[in-house]
Amino acid sequence: MEHCMRFASSVMTSLVYGIRGPAHDSYTVTGIEKIMTVGGDLNATVPPLDEFPLLMYVSPRLRMAMEKTNFRDCQLRASLYKDLADKAQIRVDSGLNPEAFAKRVYTAKNELQLTDRRVHMILAVAHEGGSDIVANAIMACLMALVNYPRVLQKAREEVDSVCDEDTVPRWSDWDRLPYVRMVVKETLRWRPPFPWGVLHALDEDDTWNGYTIPKGSSVLMNIWNINMNPDRYPNPDEFWPERFESFPLSSSEYINSSDSLLRDHYTFGAGRRSCPGLVIADIDLFLSISKILWAFDLSTPDGQPLDTSPETAFTGPNLRRPLPFKMTFRVRNEARARTIEAEMRIAEENVFSRFGS
Ligand code: HEM
Repeated sequence: MEHCMRFASSVMTSLVYGIRGPAHDSYTVTGIEKIMTVGGDLNATVPPLDEFPLLMYVSPRLRMAMEKTNFRDCQLRASLYKDLADKAQIRVDSGLNPEAFAKRVYTAKNELQLTDRRVHMILAVAHEGGSDIVANAIMACLMALVNYPRVLQKAREEVDSVCDEDTVPRWSDWDRLPYVRMVVKETLRWRPPFPWGVLHALDEDDTWNGYTIPKGSSVLMNIWNINMNPDRYPNPDEFWPERFESFPLSSSEYINSSDSLLRDHYTFGAGRRSCPGLVIADIDLFLSISKILWAFDLSTPDGQPLDTSPETAFTGPNLRRPLPFKMTFRVRNEARARTIEAEMRIAEENVFSRFGS
């Protein structure tokens, strides 16, 4: 579980700040993990006061409970995000990681009259959006692969038909691994890591099914319900990647379709505020899953299937993460172990060395 979080968080801090998280106990990784947990508690331990402000007047205790958690949340955020932004600025000023998102934000700072705090938050939102959620999706996929040996076998055979023992899957293999892409789509549909998305507000009056929805109303999209609709996805609790055979494109190519039947799934939301990170998410998931399939035999320590029930195997009020579970990863053979070590050496020399920590 820790590897998934380290990987997803490190991709984001590298892209945004030019800073890697080389180990799970790196402050960049543990920092965002804590923030996402406390942020989650904000929704779990108190009633949804942001969504229903009227509740604030029902009991001052509710308001105090929220403000206390909110304060802790803000403190954690302010300290990590300032620290990372300051480090990124030093790197930007020294000409390091010129392609990092921080470089673009600092370049535009004066022209857009951004305050320091606003810069911190602009940089942080991508870090927040792309760490925990991606890690949770990778974990859900691992759970599915170990519980559905037929799928694991089929995906593995596809990867092996494209990559020999000396060659790990790469992003350029996207077109040649259609079944792995279906596995990723099915994971996102089957256990969406952010099953309600964020609140949207109506900017004009609307009607739906005879209901009038006034301008300014908050609308929450029930992604979970759409993804589990048996008319759309027969036998929806079954992990069955083949249901996406007629959806060969990437998530970004389906998200803007105005015809709901031409959408693959709704896990990245809908409309103008849909997830802006879905391209990175597709890449993260495709690469991590195809590489794991290439490298490891996966099993459970006792040979028993894992609990994958959304009620008992996952936790979290709006960000759904798998509860800790046990899995065994065994490198498939010596030749693959040597390739992994060689890849690591190349990455250390050519990639990792370009980033701070
Ligand atoms: C499996 C991975 C991911 C899933 C399932 C996911 C899902 C979502 C969903 C459901 C929303 C709300 C959309 C809506 O209400 O219509 C959202 C918003 C957002 N996501 Fe993602 N996301 C993922 C990865 C990422 C990544 C990698 C990034 C950063 C690069 C990111 C950044 C954001 C941001 C900034 C928002 C807020 C957008 C706004 O309010 O306008 N997400 N995401």
